Amino acid sequence: MAKKHDSLSDSINLPSYRGDVVYSCIGCESEYSLDDFLYTCPSCGSLLKLLDRSFDTLKAYPGSRWRDIFDRRRMSNHPSLSGIFLYHELILPTVEPEDVIYLGEGHTPLVQANEDLAGWARVPFSVKNDGLNPSASFKDRGMASAISYLNYVIRKRDIPEVLGICASTGDTSAAAALYLSYLPKGRVKSVVLLPRGKVTPQQLSQPLGSGSTVIELPGVFDDCMEIVEELAENFEVFLLNSRNPLRINGQKSFSYEVAQQLGWDTSNLVVVVPVGNAGNITAIMEGFLDLYRLEIIDNLPTIVGVQSSHADPVYRWSMTGKYNPVEVTPSVAQAAMIGDPVSFPKVKNLVEEHFGSRIFVVRVSEQEIMEGMLTANRHGHVVCTQGGESIAGLRKALEKGLVGKTDTIVVDSTSHQLKFTEFQQMYFDDSFPPEYGISTRDELRNAPVALRADAREVARYLNLKKK
Ligand code: F0G
Repeated sequence: MAKKHDSLSDSINLPSYRGDVVYSCIGCESEYSLDDFLYTCPSCGSLLKLLDRSFDTLKAYPGSRWRDIFDRRRMSNHPSLSGIFLYHELILPTVEPEDVIYLGEGHTPLVQANEDLAGWARVPFSVKNDGLNPSASFKDRGMASAISYLNYVIRKRDIPEVLGICASTGDTSAAAALYLSYLPKGRVKSVVLLPRGKVTPQQLSQPLGSGSTVIELPGVFDDCMEIVEELAENFEVFLLNSRNPLRINGQKSFSYEVAQQLGWDTSNLVVVVPVGNAGNITAIMEGFLDLYRLEIIDNLPTIVGVQSSHADPVYRWSMTGKYNPVEVTPSVAQAAMIGDPVSFPKVKNLVEEHFGSRIFVVRVSEQEIMEGMLTANRHGHVVCTQGGESIAGLRKALEKGLVGKTDTIVVDSTSHQLKFTEFQQMYFDDSFPPEYGISTRDELRNAPVALRADAREVARYLNLKKK
């Protein structure tokens, strides 16, 4: 027993536990060393996940001790413990603390909906604002783990050159470009593939600003994903999509943080999350499972996935039990506008093996998504359209009786309002193309007022009372 404790960290000291992490196939369960960059199983072609074969040694500590370790680490100023690697043993213990790349990701605030917004939603809830990550989306969590790993292998194996690449609806590319740009330029190149005209100008500006090579292709995200998968299969590249399980492991930090922010009490917890490529919902389920297995939490939460009626393959599967890719049509939740989510097989396994009746998928209209976003932002939030989708999904789940009024509800706002101002503007101008099916309600409209530079005129316009 004492020996098991040796490699575990016992305080806020730098973690010394390195685990025994391998790729494990979710289909045939073959295991592969992390030495090669793999994204699918070489023998059966299924997705890979990361498996720490020594995970059970972490059980040498009771849950209370882990809670204490993680709580005490929050007081540390060490960069390697400041971000998602605060949960080092659960994220990617292979990486040595000196190789952790920390750019300010994680530990995003849980902001309570005020009375007005809770009244509108018909239930109290909090928003986990993942737009407050360095590239303004939750993708930084997974990028911090994948790029820290890359940094570690570059040093360990003295790799002379790496090309990091991803396809994206805008946020993965922003995060990949940002984190790759932190690594030595001579060794690391960065390329992103985007569907032309289907990322917002703000999202497009991000990889450009980070110095990445930005390639625009015709079609939608799914088309770019196909190309990047072919490249990853046949060429020496480091794939940074969530097909790479090194990404998923970093995104698990969302769940660790939610549990910690709730004082590790996850009873009656409901987490509402938008679903696109299904990497995030996978990571969130896996994260809570880790905590449950180590008895850090006593209950698994209920997960509510939300999809737009314009991109809803996971919703359809949840209703019929049959999975088929769908043709997407334009959606304001554009970052989640994906017809054939890569991580779907992982979701299916997690539901079948662990979450069962603790997961629901709801579908919302484009109109509901916009109104969810605009209403939240009129009450002190800065949620993106996907955050609006989550909030609309919460209302739907409540309507259907899937969540209760006394549950503790956390809604994931996956990126920042400012990335999606175009959609806000289209709403204000009532100028959505018909395929979105969105019309403007006057009470949510807003526009600047042009006046002369004259205090009396401003006062008259505002109907101010004289002192
Ligand atoms: N919200 C935002 C802001 C996103 O950027 C994405 C996905 C999602 C939700 C959906 O998450 O894919 O894990 O189910 N964006 C990816 C990208 C696809 O390329 O940036 P998911």
